[in-house]
Amino acid sequence: MTRNDPKPSDRRSEDELARRREASQLGGGQDRIDAQHERGKLTARERIDHLLDDDSFHELDTFVRHRATEFDLEETRPPGDAVVTGYGEVNDRTVFVYALDFTVLGGSVGEAVADKICKATEMAIENGAPVVGIWDSGGARIQEGVTSLAGFARIFQQNVRASGVVPQVSVITGPCAGGATYSPALTDFTFMVQGTSYMMITGPDVIETVTGEQVTKEELGGAQVHASRSGVAHAACDTEKRALDDVRRLLSYLPANHLGDPPRVHTHDDPDRSTDRLAEVVPSQPRKPYDMVEVIEELLDRESFFEVHAQFARNLVVGFARLDGRPVGVVANQPRMNAGTLEIEASQKGARFVRFCDSFNLPVLTLVDVPGFMPGTGQEHNGIIRHGAKLIYAYSEATVPLLTVVVRKAYGGSYIVMGSKYLGADVNYAWPDAEMAVMGPQGAVNVLYSDELAAADDPEALREELVAEYREQFANPYRPAERGFIDDVIRPAETRSRLVGDLEMLERKNEQTLRKDHGNAPL
Ligand code: HXC
Repeated sequence: MTRNDPKPSDRRSEDELARRREASQLGGGQDRIDAQHERGKLTARERIDHLLDDDSFHELDTFVRHRATEFDLEETRPPGDAVVTGYGEVNDRTVFVYALDFTVLGGSVGEAVADKICKATEMAIENGAPVVGIWDSGGARIQEGVTSLAGFARIFQQNVRASGVVPQVSVITGPCAGGATYSPALTDFTFMVQGTSYMMITGPDVIETVTGEQVTKEELGGAQVHASRSGVAHAACDTEKRALDDVRRLLSYLPANHLGDPPRVHTHDDPDRSTDRLAEVVPSQPRKPYDMVEVIEELLDRESFFEVHAQFARNLVVGFARLDGRPVGVVANQPRMNAGTLEIEASQKGARFVRFCDSFNLPVLTLVDVPGFMPGTGQEHNGIIRHGAKLIYAYSEATVPLLTVVVRKAYGGSYIVMGSKYLGADVNYAWPDAEMAVMGPQGAVNVLYSDELAAADDPEALREELVAEYREQFANPYRPAERGFIDDVIRPAETRSRLVGDLEMLERKNEQTLRKDHGNAPL
């Protein structure tokens, strides 16, 4: 035996450590891991490995176990319980992570699981790093009773404490029932997986018992439903790996916390590249549809656009991109969908996105082509006034650089709402053919000349004449430019280079807000 050989007692303790570590790696056991794979799902550890850079995971609380005894729970106490927590790196930057382990009591949340999640989130807050939560859970652990409910409440509270301090992202990779749904809902972005993930407050059985309604899990709370109808999910990804890859991409645009700047990268795209092709992409006829995403992709750095919430409220596009390597949030009307009209869902989507960007120092680029708010009783009775106010609130309170380009038209309230100078935007441009007025020429002529039109021999001919006159005199960018509401009228070709210059100028923008606990946003 040499001096460096372990003493028999050391060897015993190392064996003990290895044995305990191995047990913690197995979660609920090999059979349950196999069952997880048979369902086409990864395990909690495999998900973490895919999310993080190679070999960067540092696990925390490996040996934590619950102390519950009722319902024979003392017989199921694997080290680590039903969640794997820790930190690692995504693109060489620190990220905290927790992944619910379905192989242990269905990933249910009891006291110890909640303790681990709260500790990881607290460490993320203290160390200023994003948190990613990966859910595959039956919700509150039934056997632990109200202690589980208290655990969820503590998790919610930590989500709220972290909100606006560090980015929080959720990935739903299995069932996410009851209370488990509210933690993701309190985070900034939620990614779901098609076919294997569900989010619901109450399941189909309870619904049928209470209301008699029959519905499948997929129809009720599948990825597609939440990405396109409820807006709960920001994406419905084909596979778990795709969802985790998307989270890695999302994080690449974000600062680690609210005090940091978003990471600028070197770009091979010329900041002064002419964007003259945009004059062809955007038709001069005010009502002709086109795809606003083409405008975004042409203006911003090549292949840098990452759209989020793409299937929800498709009349408004939001996402992240880079301009000369600097990350920005993009908000744009989509004339291809309902003519780009603003309505309840688009207002909610835009408001939440702008508030996120403002929390994390991401400048907002707004591209405007909007005919107005959607009229109708459906909108009015469902509260378009309340929801539209959210968008006004979000832009008005934002202190990050705000750059806005009116590419074709901006009318009335929707003109004000979409990042206008009136709400405090830093730079407002319009292209030469842009129409900007209180309302569109047709509507304005009908209101202003109703008597004349009623008395005319040929009302249609008169209407046409008056519309042309109105368009010539009012519906152009020079009226607002005369008042300084538009800083400049610019050609499509020079738009990219102007925005790059403005973003650089605004780099040190430091707008102070009034001191208050918090505002009362119209939720
Ligand atoms: C304890 C649970 C559990 C739970 C599942 N399990 N959910 N154990 N508490 N909440 C256990 C099962 O008993 C089973 O154990 C194992 O996990 C796998 O579950 P299965 O049912 O076999 O799997 P599957 O068929 O895929 O169905 C998964 C499921 C279903 C859809 C999640 O288990 C389910 O409906 N669970 C209950 C969901 C629920 O109602 N949760 C409470 C929500 S109330 P064995 O040992 O048999 O394999 C809530 C309130 C919080 O969360 C409110 C906070 C504000």
